[in-house]
Amino acid sequence: MRNLLTIADLSSDDLQELLQLADRFAETQTRDVKKVPALRGKTVVLAFFEDSTRTRTSFDLAARRLSADVVNFSAGASSLSKGESLRDTIETISAMGVDAIVVRHRSSGAPQQVAQWTDAAVINAGDGWHQHPTQALLDSYTIRQRFGSLEGRRIALCGDINHSRVARSDVDAFTKLGAEVVLVAPPTLLPPSLEGWPVSVSHDLDQVVSDIDVAYFLRIQQERMTDALFPSVREYRAHFGLTVDRAKRLKPDALIMHPGPMNRGVELDPAVADDERAVVLDQVAAGIPIRMAVLFQTLGPGQFESEVA
Ligand code: NCD
Repeated sequence: MRNLLTIADLSSDDLQELLQLADRFAETQTRDVKKVPALRGKTVVLAFFEDSTRTRTSFDLAARRLSADVVNFSAGASSLSKGESLRDTIETISAMGVDAIVVRHRSSGAPQQVAQWTDAAVINAGDGWHQHPTQALLDSYTIRQRFGSLEGRRIALCGDINHSRVARSDVDAFTKLGAEVVLVAPPTLLPPSLEGWPVSVSHDLDQVVSDIDVAYFLRIQQERMTDALFPSVREYRAHFGLTVDRAKRLKPDALIMHPGPMNRGVELDPAVADDERAVVLDQVAAGIPIRMAVLFQTLGPGQFESEVA
């Protein structure tokens, strides 16, 4: 694997292989010494042109646990604020001889462009409304960890689908791994066309809530909305939030998921976010072995056995 730009570039075998590799890296994370020498001598640049807590920290830790050198590049503190273009910025970073660039950018397609301007491996850490492939991998990993596999599982993705790169990546990954996906949202938060999306759609959370294995809630992304797409936060919660009452109707072994950052009291009631079926922090934890697997696949020349074990 040269770059990781979108889930569409991966077959279901590729996905399974990454999940299995992540299992092996997860094992290394239970050791006293969590660091393995696999990427010693490699340099990973984290180029985040948009804010992030989880994704940036997780890539940073994953790269360090593989013994890579990590450089953090922040758009705000760079010459971008002096008007330097994305292309010049990337070419400048590349000229320093780096091995991988992890890119987050508010524009859909930016990582694809970056890949044309550099010989380094490019990993997409979220681009606009488009894709967030490592999030989909860690979400798949979390579900597989609980259920053994995604095959035949019914997963509801609920909330702000249209603005969500997580939704677009999750739909691709979950369905390639054999799950059935239902989108639950008001029409104003769905993409104008769902042609080619392998999903069903419901506008009524109450109708699906008792019949799903995974209830996945997406953040209301107010920073990406130009119009008022729902009447009020209160009304949104009443129809599309996981309230305490609705959570009672979920199956006893269903999973409650959210990519973070959560709007507590909107997508999930505070008590529900702390329900024992909520695996939000397991998702965060899965980010480390998943990103180790992705960095290893894109940068590591060789075999897990010789370089890690
Ligand atoms: C998401 C993102 O930034 O795409 N968060 C994340 O990476 N865990 C989701 C969001 O912002 O709602």
